[in-house]
Amino acid sequence: MLVLLAPVPAVLGMASRTSAARRFASPRTTRAVSAAPVLRAARAGRPLWHGFAAGATTSASAGGTRTLISDDPSNNVTPYIEKLVGRNLHLIPNHPLFIIKRKIEGYFAELGISFEIFDSLDPVVTCTACFDDLNIPPGHPARKPSDTYYLSEGTLLRTHTSAHQSELMRRGHERFLCTGDVYRRDEIDASHYPAFHQMEGVRLMDVADMPAQLSRDEWLASDACARTAAELKGTLEGLVDALFGPVEKRWVEAYFPFTEPSLELEIFFQGDWLEVLGCGVIHSEVLAKCGLEHRHGWAFGLGLERLAMILFSIPDIRLFWTEDTRFTSQFASGEVVKFQPYSKYPECYKDVAFFVPETWEENDFMELCRECGGDLMENVKMIDEFTNPKSGKRSLCYRIVYRSMDRSLTNEEVDEIQFQLREKVGPKLGVELR
Ligand code: PHE
Repeated sequence: MLVLLAPVPAVLGMASRTSAARRFASPRTTRAVSAAPVLRAARAGRPLWHGFAAGATTSASAGGTRTLISDDPSNNVTPYIEKLVGRNLHLIPNHPLFIIKRKIEGYFAELGISFEIFDSLDPVVTCTACFDDLNIPPGHPARKPSDTYYLSEGTLLRTHTSAHQSELMRRGHERFLCTGDVYRRDEIDASHYPAFHQMEGVRLMDVADMPAQLSRDEWLASDACARTAAELKGTLEGLVDALFGPVEKRWVEAYFPFTEPSLELEIFFQGDWLEVLGCGVIHSEVLAKCGLEHRHGWAFGLGLERLAMILFSIPDIRLFWTEDTRFTSQFASGEVVKFQPYSKYPECYKDVAFFVPETWEENDFMELCRECGGDLMENVKMIDEFTNPKSGKRSLCYRIVYRSMDRSLTNEEVDEIQFQLREKVGPKLGVELR
């Protein structure tokens, strides 16, 4: 019998984050490529493993204590993002992200194969770790500065926990779960936030069970590769059952440059298929770059917010970051409980319209909104677009919905934010206000 999941945010089904595999679709096939600026080949930056020691765990209030903004020409970190780094929500006891992380770790512990836990690795990583080691070539859309927060040409805020795979394998770790905050420049709505949390799982298989060295093609055609994929699928189906009960699920073929074959797991939720994780058999070239050409294994990556929003019925991704005790006190038991919404404060909206230049990147506008309005902007959405037939100029109109999670906003403060946004959008993004 299938377990019916409690009704939760419809928003999850509709406006989900860009499918993980689509982000990595090869430059030839992706829909997202828009004259991606080709970054010069990445240099290795500073050493990766700050915060490696257990003692490096920081507390909730430690966010924003680190300077990540500099005048380096590649640096595009904003004060808003800088404040989030170090909040480490996944390490705060009884935070929903912590509870779900523990539940997943508990599932793996019960499998009887020990997985090492890494959850305090530094979110500042090198391009080498985040991209090169994972077969993501220079110029690939996943590296675009419009999607990624760069500290310098060679360092960035990790865009996925896969950034730690290779370094951990190089250090001799064979089975591990690695959780952390990840950062992607993104749109603004109830299911998108520029920072979220992922868990990466890696398992290298026992050497004795694997054939001696094979070419990449021989490996892909081998029984051992099929067995590795089957073990991965079984393990993750078990995980989803452990979290949700025996929910309906399906596997979808996917593409990630660092796994081969690659798959996504979807669950049937509120009448729709919802992607919950990406995974695959680790690509031979990724292993070879770690000096492990004789080894094979699997890897997966899942988004903790996505799972927690379903399990706890949390309707808005921004709630994870609130320190409002009406939110935090609900999870004091450390158990999975349904979130009881507290009253919403009234919203108000303002529109802004402008002509955009050819170089327009929507994410830059989203960033500017966040810079001006922070968490008070609940949703920013394009509501109108037209091109003037005579001048050929393209005009966009955005509707900005303002709402605070914990108080009523005054007209004056909303007007002031909107005024600032209008002042800045011209000089910063080269648009012409209408
Ligand atoms: N890193 C991928 C993402 O962020 C997920 C993934 C992890 C896929 C490991 C395959 C293997 O979407």
